Amino acid sequence: MSKSCRACHRGMTMVISGEEGVCLDCHGTAERRDIMVKRGYLKQRAVGYLADIDAEVRKPYAHPVRLVRGAHRSNELLPEEEVNAPRHAECVDCHESHSTDVETPFGGIKGKRVGNLVSQIEQEFELCYLCHSFSANLPAFSTDKHNEFKMTNPSFHPVEGEGKREFVVSLLQPYAARKNKPADISTISCSDCHGSDAPDAPGGPHGSIYRGLLKRNYETEDGYPESAFAYALCYTCHDRGSILSNESFSLHQQHIQGFSPDQPGTSCYTCHDAHGSTMNPYLLTFNQAVVEPTKEGKLEYKAEGVAAFHGSCTLVCHGVEHNPKTY
Ligand code: HEC
Ligand code: HEC
Ligand code: HEC
Ligand code: HEC
Ligand code: HEC
Ligand code: HEC
Ligand code: HEC
Repeated sequence: MSKSCRACHRGMTMVISGEEGVCLDCHGTAERRDIMVKRGYLKQRAVGYLADIDAEVRKPYAHPVRLVRGAHRSNELLPEEEVNAPRHAECVDCHESHSTDVETPFGGIKGKRVGNLVSQIEQEFELCYLCHSFSANLPAFSTDKHNEFKMTNPSFHPVEGEGKREFVVSLLQPYAARKNKPADISTISCSDCHGSDAPDAPGGPHGSIYRGLLKRNYETEDGYPESAFAYALCYTCHDRGSILSNESFSLHQQHIQGFSPDQPGTSCYTCHDAHGSTMNPYLLTFNQAVVEPTKEGKLEYKAEGVAAFHGSCTLVCHGVEHNPKTY
């Protein structure tokens, strides 16, 4: 498809900043698209099928497309190597405006810095790692995502490649609990979890009403009452019935729904990291705002055998000492 250069480059000099305004003329509200039709830059039929990305990036949890101005440089190469470079994410950081087609939305993006070379991006996670893996300007609250997903970890959600586990009993279709045929789907992508809350919304991690820019709700607080909604994100791929009937961890139900009215349940987040674990199998990474080490300073999980559904925990939680507690 060839769009008129003037659809985006205005004025005498064609100078353009890389801010979102030019994109939202056609990818924003229907009113803005109507104006572009009147000016002859957009075909009438496109008004109906182009999605409103503006509405997405205005949601409470969104890439800061609208919030950051003047930080993007047209010649920049990511990952960032300057500690003080302002963090930003403009449309053109994730999409190349001159070669966007339906098949490869970020095809043609400048590529990633690899030493002194530039290498093309082929997979979605590589695009995300431009800013969420090694970046000299990564904020203190954020972590290196490649470190969490790398396939040498004891466990990881299968984004960079196939998972390790032969059998994940709770998995729902189309994912295969047991991998038998080569066609069985067992990998997922960042945007299977991060994206719009609205099922009919455009794909991509533009914005969501749910914390963490997640497609579904996910409560991370200790003591929150369990429900299909509370952990909706996990329950889209892991059967709630399987988890709460203790098909894998024999104490799942008690920990998630609570032992008694004065010992309420806890979030998956207390025990599992949604990305991966550099220490343990089963994505086990204890939330240290809730779980503490024992008097001896131990905070650990030990699996017994391989996928034997047995293990032990050494830690203190809700004042209850596990030293160790086996299951
Ligand atoms: C869909 C909008 C859009 C269209 C259509 C478009 N451009 Fe661009 N162009 C941009 C944006 C946005 C930038 C700035 C990219 C950045 O800052 O990273 C840019 C940058 C450029 C640059 C600067 C060098 C570069 O690649 O960063 C040149 C030259 C250019 N465009 C030429 C053209 C020509 C010639 C046409 C018509 C054949 C055209 N553009 C059509 C959006 C567009
Ligand atoms: C003149 C209107 C117009 C402008 C301005 C415009 N686009 Fe588009 N864009 C379209 C149309 C129409 C499509 C549908 C597919 C096609 O015809 O290529 C599209 C497709 C896309 C796609 C592919 C996904 C899809 O739905 O097919 C992406 C990504 C995209 N545009 C990003 C941008 C970005 C980033 C900018 C700003 C630099 C921009 N667009 C500016 C009209 C526009
Ligand atoms: C050009 C840089 C850039 C790229 C590429 C990028 N991000 Fe981000 N992302 C940011 C910035 C900036 C923030 C704001 C917080 C920060 O500075 O880390 C952010 C925040 C987020 C957040 C937290 C949002 C919230 O409200 O809690 C998620 C989730 C996220 N990004 C996922 C992704 C995913 C998935 C991809 C790949 C499809 C991706 N990002 C690609 C720059 C980027
Ligand atoms: C988009 C689908 C999807 C979502 C959403 C999802 N998972 Fe998974 N999960 C998978 C797949 C696929 C596997 C299998 C990995 C393998 O084959 O090793 C898996 C495996 C796991 C494992 C076992 C990992 C191992 O190595 O033993 C745990 C634990 C887990 N998920 C917890 C969660 C939690 C907690 C959530 C919610 C925060 C969640 N999952 C959300 C798809 C998903
Ligand atoms: C199985 C679901 C799932 C997948 C797949 C997933 N995430 Fe997340 N992500 C979460 C959840 C849940 C949170 C919020 C709680 C937390 O921080 O663990 C989160 C938080 C984040 C944050 C905000 C916290 C921070 O450290 O800045 C970023 C950024 C992020 N994810 C990036 C990514 C990227 C990049 C990928 C792909 C390489 C990815 N995520 C894949 C579930 C997922
Ligand atoms: C942090 C990276 C990031 C930013 C910033 C971003 N996008 Fe996207 N966008 C994506 C990804 C990833 C997809 C989904 C690709 C896929 O799964 O096919 C996508 C999809 C799209 C699509 C196709 C949606 C559909 O399902 O038809 C359009 C159009 C689009 N983006 C436009 C924009 C515009 C306009 C902006 C700026 C207002 C923007 N994007 C900002 C990453 C980003
Ligand atoms: C008290 C800690 C704890 C909490 C809370 C917890 N889990 Fe687990 N989970 C475990 C342990 C331990 C295992 C490993 C069991 C084994 O030995 O196979 C496990 C295994 C799993 C597995 C892999 C096996 C399977 O069932 O498919 C999934 C998926 C899983 N948990 C999801 C969840 C979800 C979703 C939640 C929240 C609704 C949650 N867990 C809450 C400790 C916990």
